[in-house]
Amino acid sequence: MNKSKDNIKEDIAGVLIDSEQVQNKVKELGKKISRDYKEKNPVLISVLKGSIVLLADLLKAVDISCSVDFIAVSSYGENTETSGVVKLIMDLRESIEGRHVLLVEDIVDTGLTMAYLKENLLTRHPASFKICALLSKPQRRQVNIDLDYIGFEIPDDFVVGYGLDYDEKYRNLDYIGTLKPRIYQKNG
Ligand code: IMP
Repeated sequence: MNKSKDNIKEDIAGVLIDSEQVQNKVKELGKKISRDYKEKNPVLISVLKGSIVLLADLLKAVDISCSVDFIAVSSYGENTETSGVVKLIMDLRESIEGRHVLLVEDIVDTGLTMAYLKENLLTRHPASFKICALLSKPQRRQVNIDLDYIGFEIPDDFVVGYGLDYDEKYRNLDYIGTLKPRIYQKNG
């Protein structure tokens, strides 16, 4: 049996943000969000699938009344480049009319996904709308989008871990890392 095929850590070129740094940052974001949304009972909307790990940790880091909902879009195929076309593939369960909405996203790259979701969700008349993203790649931005809470700004590298995938793998790493080029070159 080829054990190395199952060892995802062997595909990682380097650690960009280690687990402790991520955890500290999420706690810090949780404190700010708790302060800003006191008595507002916000709905935290997780953009599937990449933000599920962030949502789970962020939920534990906020100490105010809040609810959660999920939405799914797609824009990436199996590649590391966005297709540029954002599609809604799963909608929210609940109405957000009159609610304070905090969109929780793993990473903002070109900004197309956030711009699409913002436009879509604002038509539903929330009381307020803000975005929390763990990672942002400012150099890659194609559209201007305001991020209200940002964990880390990172360079233009494709990263995986802490919910972020490449070809549906590596979401379960507890840190943010870069992939060895041979991984995406063989698919490219
Ligand atoms: P955007 O629409 O280009 O801003 O891309 C947003 C989505 O692309 C994110 O929710 C991720 O799913 C995916 N994405 C962008 N950059 C990366 C990356 O470096 N690693 C993994 N997924 C990424």
